[in-house]
Amino acid sequence: MSETINPQAKDLEFRPPDDFVKNANINDSDVYKKANEDFEAFWEEQAEEIEWFEKWNNVLEWEPPHAKWFVGGKLNASYNCLDANVRKNGDKIAIIWEGENGEIRKYTYKELLVETSRFANVLKELGVKKGDIVTIYLPMIPEIVIAMLACARIGAPHSVVFAAFSGESLCTRISDAESDLVITCDGYYRRGKIVEQKKKVDCGLDSCSAVQKVVVVKHLDNDINMRAGRDIWWHDLMEASGPVCEPEAMNSEDMLFLMYTSGTTGKPKGIVHTTGGYMVGTHITAKWIFDLKDDDIYWCTADCGWITGHSYIVYGPLSNGATIVMYEGAPDYPEKDRFWDIVEKHKATILYTAPTAIRSFMKWGDTWPAKHDLSTLRLLGSVGEPINPGAWIWYHENIGKGRCPIVDTWWQTETGMVLISPLPGITTSKPGSATLPFPGIKAAVLDDNGNEMPPGEDGLLAITRPWPSMVRTIHGNEKRFIETYWEKWDKNTYFAGDGAKLDDDGYFHISGRVDDVIQVAGHRIGTAEVESILVSYPSVAEAGVVGKSDEIKGEVIYAYVILKSGISGDDKLKKELIEHVSSNIGPFARPKRIIFSDELPKTRSGKIMRRVLKAIANGKDTGDVTTLQDPEVVDELKKKTLEEE
Ligand code: WTA
Repeated sequence: MSETINPQAKDLEFRPPDDFVKNANINDSDVYKKANEDFEAFWEEQAEEIEWFEKWNNVLEWEPPHAKWFVGGKLNASYNCLDANVRKNGDKIAIIWEGENGEIRKYTYKELLVETSRFANVLKELGVKKGDIVTIYLPMIPEIVIAMLACARIGAPHSVVFAAFSGESLCTRISDAESDLVITCDGYYRRGKIVEQKKKVDCGLDSCSAVQKVVVVKHLDNDINMRAGRDIWWHDLMEASGPVCEPEAMNSEDMLFLMYTSGTTGKPKGIVHTTGGYMVGTHITAKWIFDLKDDDIYWCTADCGWITGHSYIVYGPLSNGATIVMYEGAPDYPEKDRFWDIVEKHKATILYTAPTAIRSFMKWGDTWPAKHDLSTLRLLGSVGEPINPGAWIWYHENIGKGRCPIVDTWWQTETGMVLISPLPGITTSKPGSATLPFPGIKAAVLDDNGNEMPPGEDGLLAITRPWPSMVRTIHGNEKRFIETYWEKWDKNTYFAGDGAKLDDDGYFHISGRVDDVIQVAGHRIGTAEVESILVSYPSVAEAGVVGKSDEIKGEVIYAYVILKSGISGDDKLKKELIEHVSSNIGPFARPKRIIFSDELPKTRSGKIMRRVLKAIANGKDTGDVTTLQDPEVVDELKKKTLEEE
């Protein structure tokens, strides 16, 4: 980002409006003190807010770094999202879905329960058993929610793979999860064009022979291949299936889902979330941070393919009985006011989106939102990357009309729920700060040795107490789980991988990743993943990939590439390499620049120093480079980078 601190915004503070405070779900700041005094008692009280088939014996068993929450308790996530709400008011709208082409579908809670139960029966018919991992590869259509909840209903953990991933990326995740059933669709719309989803599946599955069945939603009716014996239409299965399915009583610590995310190596990590703690954590954070009320129309613009969609489209809001908006397509289709059109049309009261989207809206200009009646909005949220004060203020003024509190929510795939955020009826917010840990959560800013940093000084973000929805392990790789998160300091202290500092009020200011993860438009991408795809291209010898600050996307990908001898780099090859990454990972991982070079900054032992490359890409001081094999390479790369701009 070009702007880290906006001088005018630096001292700005926004107190929540009086009438918001008066009506807020939580408006007594004593909640922080109480939760801090006895965090287990606090979480136990919150656990009473959801429904259990059997109560727990123990709130927490903590053998660092392994936590078990609500041990002995039995519950079902889909029961909490559906049956519990049908009992209160089955005719309430659960989902308002809008397709990119303008089609609208609505589901009441009763209808969603029937559809989910039908599909749960389908899964059983197909031989899926409790504990089997089911892969879901669907775009933002209602069937993605139905499929997730159906898995939860029968105790089969889901692994949702973001629809824009390539077939190869899908295959990597299927193989790691040892999943033999995939749920997908024929195609979907993106900016008016058809994305041929089933074709991507067919390509991916060529190298994934374990997959037995592919269930295909007919969404667009585009021409596809159905392989006999493997591929089955969703609607055929649903027609033949019964509308009632008893929810499985799951142990609190049974796996609810796997969510793959990027880390510092090429292989994505399967983050394991379990049932009880995750449901308690997402339920209560959704209720308090988004201040969910019975008449709210809540729109989270994330995709169910990422953790934000899991926690704050599906499990958190639905377990609160909220009416959610889901939108299939792009924010600028057919025009740049699509979001504001949706807010106006469906009378959204809460909007939760990403800084990268907000910065695009800023660039497109104030006139787009100004054309629409946004007066129903009462609360705004931000997630996915740091929000710079300029974007915060624009959001506050142009979308919130100075009236709506903004919750800047910090969290991760691994944390499952928001850990640092304002409570909109309590917290005075400051643009650019996610403010304070949620009640019961304890966080700190530490140096490499685990000492607390004084206010104003940069350090590393740590979570210093267990929380209910924390990652339990990395699927099939317990060693990596411990090394990645629990060995930076000690086994009681979670290393988030983000840089942070405190201000004089104890507010957290989070600056972004300090490891080899890049957040491109809020999408989490590992540098090593992109590098390994680049070096798989025949003419590439080596590649070093780093994030470069970008005004809109937060970060973009710069790839420094050494070609095999005898091959010279030209624009055509650059295009081919960009295309190669796009088709092997997904279009969102496209490098912005490919820079050919004869050498990369390496240590004497031959390791690429991404820190130095990153400084070069960002036009920053590279610091001490005397330990490099060949310090002269730095100037050469600086020159080449400038030539590319
Ligand atoms: C970044 C997304 C600053 C951070 C929910 C984190 C943020 C990574 C914020 C996790 C925020 C998310 N302020 N940075 N409010 N929210 N991040 O796993 O770098 O896709 O580590 O989860 O996003 O990305 P993930």
